[in-house]
Amino acid sequence: MSTLVIGGAGYIGAHVVRLLLERGEDVVVVDDLSTGAADRVGRATLAELDVAGPGAQESLEKLMAERGVTAVVHFAAKKQVGESVARPAWYYQQNVGGLANVLAAMENADVKHMIFSSSAATYGMPDVALVTEDTDCRPINPYGETKLIGEWMLADCERAWGLRWSALRYFNVAGAGWPELGDPAALNLVPMVLDRLARGERPKIFGDDYPTPDGTCIRDYIHVLDLAHAHLAAMDYLEGDAPIAHHVFNVGTGEGASVRQVVDTLGEVSGLDTTADVEPRRPGDPPQLIASPDRIGKVLGWKAEHRLEDIVRSAWEAWQAGPRRIG
Ligand code: UFG
Repeated sequence: MSTLVIGGAGYIGAHVVRLLLERGEDVVVVDDLSTGAADRVGRATLAELDVAGPGAQESLEKLMAERGVTAVVHFAAKKQVGESVARPAWYYQQNVGGLANVLAAMENADVKHMIFSSSAATYGMPDVALVTEDTDCRPINPYGETKLIGEWMLADCERAWGLRWSALRYFNVAGAGWPELGDPAALNLVPMVLDRLARGERPKIFGDDYPTPDGTCIRDYIHVLDLAHAHLAAMDYLEGDAPIAHHVFNVGTGEGASVRQVVDTLGEVSGLDTTADVEPRRPGDPPQLIASPDRIGKVLGWKAEHRLEDIVRSAWEAWQAGPRRIG
């Protein structure tokens, strides 16, 4: 019996792979290595495969049968909002098409459990202080749309052939559970600030005239290791055949931090001068996005153990363990 982690060589996936290995599971990783790295999967078996590519369904089916896969954790997807606006059809091919191949393979190989990486991007610009899973989903870009469609596909497969599934709606993921598993891409606030500092440049703050206490946007930052534990909690919830009360879970802390607080915290933990340049607002940024973590706490018994300082410190330590060490 084994767990198949698709996208397991990526930033978040590799954390889940490591936790699964630590608890003694047999893990098979599928990854196209477009953004993932082979040295992140430890002693898990790695099959290099693009799940949205030709022949993917058949290859997955074969792998699932050969390795006795009983559950799939599906991370592999494109995740850049701006790119999704520029190349919508490609995002649908990759994210929706890739998931369709995985689900078709699971149906044929009789694999009944799936944990799906969803996103707070499914909500769009919610006008509420705390976002619950019942807040309306009105995604404002193709990336968020592909994630919401993914959830619908899982619900359809449940009705058709009894798939047992959870979708985790990630809020703002950052940090590192181990120094060698830091976020390798500079696409989000914490790594973007570190990337600027490594170039000897000042961090940028996109807008300080929002209706928030310090004028900068507020987000719910979640430590990647806490997020990884949420996947294991969701997998355990699907075990057995008890009816599933809830499928969709926010993964956040219920607490917000502003962009300026994040940048200042990085200055404190690193000892660097993180004085930032204020730039114009970035289009499409909601002023505030904070998760209500009530449901995941009650149903999965999960809660975040790490707060902002731990998150930022672990990101800093991972950065310093990498090739672009500062100072
Ligand atoms: N920001 C800066 N300076 C930077 C980088 C980011 O000020 O150099 C600001 C952004 O404008 C935003 C905040 O920091 O206000 C967080 O930005 P991120 O890009 O890190 O994260 P987002 O909240 O925009 O995006 C996250 C996920 C997306 C998801 C989105 C909506 O990364 O995948 O939430 O749920 F689509």
